[in-house]
Amino acid sequence: MTLRIGDAAPDFSADTTTGPIKFHEWIGEEWAFFFSHPADFTPVCTTEMCRTSQLSEQFTKRGVKAIGLSTDTVEEHVKWIDDVYDIQNTDLRFPIVADADLKIAKLYDMIHPSECETAAVRSVFIIDPDKKIRLTMTYPMSVGRNFAEILRVVDALQTGDKHKIAAPADWMPGQDVIIPPSVSDADTKVAFPQGFETLRPYLRKVKI
Ligand code: BEZ
Repeated sequence: MTLRIGDAAPDFSADTTTGPIKFHEWIGEEWAFFFSHPADFTPVCTTEMCRTSQLSEQFTKRGVKAIGLSTDTVEEHVKWIDDVYDIQNTDLRFPIVADADLKIAKLYDMIHPSECETAAVRSVFIIDPDKKIRLTMTYPMSVGRNFAEILRVVDALQTGDKHKIAAPADWMPGQDVIIPPSVSDADTKVAFPQGFETLRPYLRKVKI
């Protein structure tokens, strides 16, 4: 199933390293960073698990719950987590979904058969509290993800939701944001009494 931005994130029940979950119930009122990796006990995946764990405070600060998935069993995940702890002295607290029968990986289109028939590529889904998919991203098996970008996108989405703005290229929190062209100048003056800059009628920037 191809999932796109704006689609409802499919719900599922699964065994994880922290016990069985119902996905939507587990997300609750928060955001989710749902990411697949090809396999346990592989080098790039190990670095991604470490990074996710190291960033746990950053995710929590943004109301984001991280959850991994690979087509391995809970027992394999648990052994691997012990290894990750040994290597990095990092306590990996977020759940990893066991998907040995590939059911969830197929549901989320994480299996790209030209790459591998039985293991997931590096898919990312950012899901909001309404269980709507807000970002999809796919990395090949051989390239670890950029976690700074994942946090940046969450910041941009949450800031956009709050202020009804868009984020320009390479935007970082604290920098000027863009007023969508669909908002009139009159409405913009009300929404942003601090004033805004018009570079072109279609490109207006504001500090928030
Ligand atoms: C890795 O995590 O290192 C990896 C996994 C599958 C294919 C290639 C790399």
